[in-house]
Amino acid sequence: MKRLFITGGSGLLGSRFGKFSKDYEVISTYNRNLEENAIKLDITDEKDVLDKIKSIEPDLVIHPAALTNVDYCEDHQKEADQINAQGTLNIVKACEEADSKLIYVSTDFVFDGEKGKYQENDKTNPISYYGLSKLKGEEFVINSNINYAIARVSVLYGWHRNFNYVTWVINELKENNQINIVTDEFNSPTYAENAAEAILNIYSKAKEGIYHIAGDERINRFDFAKNIAQVFELDETLINPIKSSDLIRKAKRPMDSSLSVEKAKNDLDIKLLNTTEGLIEMKKVIE
Ligand SMILES: NC(=O)c1ccc[n+]([C@@H]2O[C@H](COP(=O)([O-])OP(=O)(O)OC[C@H]3O[C@@H](n4cnc5c(N)ncnc54)[C@H](OP(=O)(O)O)[C@@H]3O)[C@@H](O)[C@H]2O)c1
Repeated sequence: MKRLFITGGSGLLGSRFGKFSKDYEVISTYNRNLEENAIKLDITDEKDVLDKIKSIEPDLVIHPAALTNVDYCEDHQKEADQINAQGTLNIVKACEEADSKLIYVSTDFVFDGEKGKYQENDKTNPISYYGLSKLKGEEFVINSNINYAIARVSVLYGWHRNFNYVTWVINELKENNQINIVTDEFNSPTYAENAAEAILNIYSKAKEGIYHIAGDERINRFDFAKNIAQVFELDETLINPIKSSDLIRKAKRPMDSSLSVEKAKNDLDIKLLNTTEGLIEMKKVIE
């Protein structure tokens, strides 16, 4: 059985891999939020990363662990660098030593959002520190000698103990709260279960290089919120349209960082779900 080592097993995406334990031996890690059956690992601790990965000798390391709060990263650039860039370099070095393949999870925020429907080889130009720190992580992976893939995801959603966009919208609408949502920011929202399956498909098909692993759709936040209300049968009149210029946020957001998933559709055996399909799958979990 192939052995997988998952960083950030306590996170939204990282926590999805446990369910593949009939096909793989899965070893997951957490940092601050204790996760059952996972081991503690701080990816900024170079020695611990090396010791753990060398002793486990995984066939594949999947690396979603990151500092993911975009506004926090803008204000804490050193910490963002240490975790997203340097932490990734520590993982890369350990993969080199243990001869493990690496799949690094990156983001649509490596792009500036001027173009949209980005392809894998489009020019990166992050406009937030979060995006820059994740891009530095990509560069460490690309400039290494290891066998690697990079899976860029966009607006992850799914059930998790921490709020994400979808669970936040559901919660607000259930509480009958009015919410103001931007109509002019576009992404390709990605159902976390679907992304995990696609990442494992990259591995099982021995693919390398960069893949956009995202929902097969370009959608703005407002329409996405409307879809959430419709699928979960909540009151969509509570959702008010606003412009991104109405919001005050620490970090800039790309206006259109939607991702083209054509390469993944051609190379992988998996359907990448649009928001309606992903939300319906998500609803089935609680029915
Ligand atoms: N969320 C999105 O909308 C989105 C969009 C595009 C790309 N991405 C990328 O997708 C990946 C997964 O995102 P997510 O939303 O699933 O993440 P998340 O839920 O925010 O979880 C982050 C994970 O990283 C771990 N972590 C943070 N600092 C660490 C450290 N120093 N050492 C070890 N682990 C550490 C956390 O561990 P503890 O909680 O135990 O501390 C947690 O398991 C990330 O690489 C992110 O950049 C996310």
